[in-house]
Amino acid sequence: EKGGYDHFMLKEIFDQPASLTDCLRGRLDSENMTLTLAGVEQHLSVFAQAKRIVIVACGTSWHAGLVAEYMIETLCRIPVEVEYASEFRYRNPVIGPGDIILAISQSGETADTLVAIERAKEQGAFIFGVVNAVGSSIARLSHAGAYTHAGPEIGVASTKAFTAQLTVLAMMAMKIGKAKGTLAEAEYNRLLGELALIPEKVKTTLATHEAIKEVAKHYADARDFLFLGRGYNFPVALEGALKLKEISYIHAEGYPAAEMKHGPIALVDENLPVLFIATKDAYYEKIVSNIQEIKARKGKVIAVISEGDTLIRSMADHVMVVPEVDELLAPLISVLPTQLLSYYIGVERGLDVDKPRNLAKSVTVE
Ligand code: M6R
Repeated sequence: EKGGYDHFMLKEIFDQPASLTDCLRGRLDSENMTLTLAGVEQHLSVFAQAKRIVIVACGTSWHAGLVAEYMIETLCRIPVEVEYASEFRYRNPVIGPGDIILAISQSGETADTLVAIERAKEQGAFIFGVVNAVGSSIARLSHAGAYTHAGPEIGVASTKAFTAQLTVLAMMAMKIGKAKGTLAEAEYNRLLGELALIPEKVKTTLATHEAIKEVAKHYADARDFLFLGRGYNFPVALEGALKLKEISYIHAEGYPAAEMKHGPIALVDENLPVLFIATKDAYYEKIVSNIQEIKARKGKVIAVISEGDTLIRSMADHVMVVPEVDELLAPLISVLPTQLLSYYIGVERGLDVDKPRNLAKSVTVE
């Protein structure tokens, strides 16, 4: 059942070229340059007229929501808020007509997310679910939705569900942006082509697993870890830190790289590994200077870099290389080395990576 892999987590990480192909199947047709997303199409006017989209989710799904905020604001020009479901449900939030609640959940059974959308539904909001488990409670409670079709995820740490969520959210933003006219035809077509290349790029990235395993050996004894990224890669830093905490029990924090100097930089010394998500995008130069700041304080730098990048390679202690991708889709690729790194560090420390202590696969209690 683990398909020859030592753990479900590893199997699910390596499933991603296939799970993303499944997620795109019947939706993205790159030959005819079309994108079909029935749940969105049936309610296109609701989306096109939305005053605001409020995303509610927990954990890794909340991180996918943060990426979606950047995607939707960029392509659709609709204001987006991303809420922890647990806070939203207890807060008496201001919801009115014209608001869309976007619930993101792998299991579709997370209690906080479920109650949050029940409350919003009572107040008349339109509920759209991005859910992996078919027929789950959140899927049934939503007015409409799009399944992520990642297949069953057994490992407690979410991996393939996250990349499938990002894929569905990107398709949604593209569809809505095109319908609203905020996403130009040429740009839409370009993104469509880029999206079609993702499963292959995932495969290329996963093929570097031996190199990542080597990196893991250097950091398996770390006590703390900092993950930094900017823009689309900021939520990836949060996700990388969460995964490492869950799987290796190493204390890890994720931050937007520029926030570093507002506090976390006080932690930096020769014992602190700082992992930068530093792929080629609009923030590249800024990230380079953030790396310089860490090196000046003798921190250890691990960087996820784009193929062909020689500058950061020369500055970092260790690098993990990924193919170049459009920045909107970058998280789909840049998260992969962090998944593998957490896995190998967890294994190196002799831990049960599929069932970390104190955690459950779906949190059906509050
Ligand atoms: O099933 P859900 O997506 O609603 O679950 C949300 C979180 O409980 C989940 O992502 C959790 O944070 C994972 N253990 C992360 O790896």
